[in-house]
Amino acid sequence: GFSSLAGLSSTTSKTSSSQLHAGVERNPNFGKLAGGYLFPEIGRRRNKYLEENPDMADRIISLGIGDTTQPIPEHILSGLVTGASQLGTKEGYSGYGAENGQARLREKIASTLYNDLISPDDVFVSDGAKCDIMRLQQMFGAGVTSAVQDPSYPVYVDTSVMMGQTGTQNSETMQYDNIVYMACTAENGFFPDYENAPRADVVYLCSPNNPTGAAATREQLEGIVKLCKERGSILVFDAAYAPFIRSEGVPKSIFEIEGAKEVAIEVNSFSKYAGFTGVRLGWTVVPSELTFSDGTPVRNDFNRVMSTAFNGASNIVQNGGMACLDPEGLKEINTLIDYYLENASILRETMESIGYKVYGGTDAPYVFVELPESLGGSWDAFSMILEKAQVVTIPGAGFGPGGEGYLRLSAFAPRESVVEACDRLKKALA
Ligand code: MLT
Repeated sequence: GFSSLAGLSSTTSKTSSSQLHAGVERNPNFGKLAGGYLFPEIGRRRNKYLEENPDMADRIISLGIGDTTQPIPEHILSGLVTGASQLGTKEGYSGYGAENGQARLREKIASTLYNDLISPDDVFVSDGAKCDIMRLQQMFGAGVTSAVQDPSYPVYVDTSVMMGQTGTQNSETMQYDNIVYMACTAENGFFPDYENAPRADVVYLCSPNNPTGAAATREQLEGIVKLCKERGSILVFDAAYAPFIRSEGVPKSIFEIEGAKEVAIEVNSFSKYAGFTGVRLGWTVVPSELTFSDGTPVRNDFNRVMSTAFNGASNIVQNGGMACLDPEGLKEINTLIDYYLENASILRETMESIGYKVYGGTDAPYVFVELPESLGGSWDAFSMILEKAQVVTIPGAGFGPGGEGYLRLSAFAPRESVVEACDRLKKALA
């Protein structure tokens, strides 16, 4: 039973000098990874603080990981409930589905979210954008070079390292050898200057950006699509925060840019606006026009990855995805986004009132705060704020060396927590 298994693991997990090791060599790429994945590391530091200060447990407010907190709205929830109920009937029951997702969901994604700019055949429904990024890496393999925005969502770099595309991390620059880091700074509007960076096979671009909150303009996207075409690079465009865009004329998909289908892949997700971070549903668009240098459609190989290593997103969850794209669902999503953007605006105003320079938070759920040098490094600022205000943030350095000097605040907390956190931040930082 479970109890004997638990007993077994507790004895075998004890290490001793006489411990027998497997005769399997560790994958050396894992040895190159510096530290754990960012978000568990934040959790570890928070837990350590709570172990030392147990009386603070009720006071902790998280503006850290971008995890949604508002309940799933009624219509979207009804889609999930119906999806589950159907499994209890003879007529409604379904087992394995298409590995790339139900046809009606792929059609609805193409028509509702992309205005039919893309074909449903190019949509691969999945369990999320993060998982798709790893699957894209598995498709590209160890032989490619990757370019990333610096700072960036850590998954692009960490998966490149795991796949063996990189050398080790340089202890001075904190950059991995053989990854192209494209500096994104306040001066360049947090948009990378790919033209003046070395060529890479795969270029990762996230807009609206995590962590800086910057949303790329049409001109910027036209520029990078053109460059990728000229240099023969594939652009992996991460649009997980696209519906947060409120500014007029800012593209929500790379496929709004002419010619993008020959250079770009788009990864996307329902997580951040339908409250699906735990439910798990995303998708990736690989246009049939995109080919490798030998002429093979990239879509064929991605299809091979999905059909070999993935059995399709949960049928229950895909029914929830359908409900998201009904007019009622889209309305509910807009209301959720308005709520989170109002949080972002409260965070922005607070940090500005303390005298900090603030970026993002208008077309994105992340507020990127420039730290005064007096606070030390961003990990120091993170610790000081945790200790003084019991507010969890994310240090910019966690997103790469280019994030040093910044702090990321997530707007996904409940309103009352945001207001309370702002109150405490004012006291701690003033
Ligand atoms: C974040 O906080 O950056 C997000 O939670 C990352 C993710 O969605 O995996």
